Amino acid sequence: MLFAERTGHLREEGAYVVFGKAQQLERQGRDIIHLEIGQPDFATFSNVAAAGICAIKNGKTRYTLPAGLLELRQTVAETVGSSRGTAAEPEEVIIAPGSKLLLFFPTLALVGPGDEVLYPNPGFPTYEAMIRLAGGKPVPVPLCEEKGFSLDIEAAGQLVSDRTRLIILNSPGNPTGGVMPVSDLEHIAALARKHDCWVLSDEIYSRLVYDGSTFTSIASLPGMKSRTILVDGFSKTYAMTGWRLGYGVMPKELAGRVSLLLTHSVGCTASFTQYAGIEALCGPQDQVERVRQEYQKRRDAVVSGLQEIPGISCQTPGGAFYAFPNVTALGKPVEELADYLLEEAGVAVLPGTAFGSLGEGYLRISYANSLSNIQQALEQIRQALGRLS
Ligand SMILES: Cc1ncc(COP(=O)(O)O)c(C=O)c1O
Repeated sequence: MLFAERTGHLREEGAYVVFGKAQQLERQGRDIIHLEIGQPDFATFSNVAAAGICAIKNGKTRYTLPAGLLELRQTVAETVGSSRGTAAEPEEVIIAPGSKLLLFFPTLALVGPGDEVLYPNPGFPTYEAMIRLAGGKPVPVPLCEEKGFSLDIEAAGQLVSDRTRLIILNSPGNPTGGVMPVSDLEHIAALARKHDCWVLSDEIYSRLVYDGSTFTSIASLPGMKSRTILVDGFSKTYAMTGWRLGYGVMPKELAGRVSLLLTHSVGCTASFTQYAGIEALCGPQDQVERVRQEYQKRRDAVVSGLQEIPGISCQTPGGAFYAFPNVTALGKPVEELADYLLEEAGVAVLPGTAFGSLGEGYLRISYANSLSNIQQALEQIRQALGRLS
């Protein structure tokens, strides 16, 4: 079949590929432990689910304005104001069915042919896909393992130029769990100001930071709010992946352009989902904290378990729910290794290369699974790798 050239670069997301292989094995009767998928294993918090159900029962099932319900936009503006320390107005907030669209549409609105976009590699695969769909040139920036997988600031300084239109940040990051220190954010902010470019800050894991550290958004640094698109959502924090709800905060003029893109694509976000979002932000937050503490326990179990396996070394990630162990000493391409672990250990993990070429030598392990499954998986991995040598 003949397709438009602009879609020729699109590839499947690695997580779905491995998930598909794992399901095939399960259909053959194998038990597989899933550490490949990046979604909370917890149910949507009950007060939030109840608010969505109540909205449906009360007939809140009609179109909303493309940019979202004013009440939710106001709530997001207040939430971002207090969590990031940067005041926002409802007109600067856009609601969409998932934060992915709030990565994609601002990129489509800002980036054109010839424009360069810096983005993390390894990084969330949607970044490269959307840069190419917009006609821009993807410029990968490596991460520094020894600096907790923060963006390599020196490399960013060399790669940025007056052709750079946008710099994408993701802290805490997928696939590494890395958190950028404030000093690195300050460096990137200085580059963005100097080269007059935008920053797209994907903050979907902002509520999942560990060891008592606090989250800082680049939007809160001097002179940055007017050139930052801050993206967050409900999928990870409130276990709402299937509800499809995300938000972006950006200057009003850009918000207007993104709203037009929503008008002519999805129309609007499901109305009852937006009511659930209001409850998520305004309701009690103790479950968010309880879940965060549970992830921290799992992270500690994953990291210490991996460290004990010969040939594996693992940084302690500062956020999200991923570990990114270095497996170069095992001397196998990671795609082969991930296949081997699926077949021989019955554990689904992702090869680092599912997140870009610079992911070679690493595996991504999602610890959005129970502590007992994680411990069982680590034991099975240890035994299978023992047989390998
Ligand atoms: C870094 C990152 N950004 C964005 C998303 C998309 O989230 P949403 O479900 O809100 O579209 C994900 C989901 O895995 C992610 O890992």
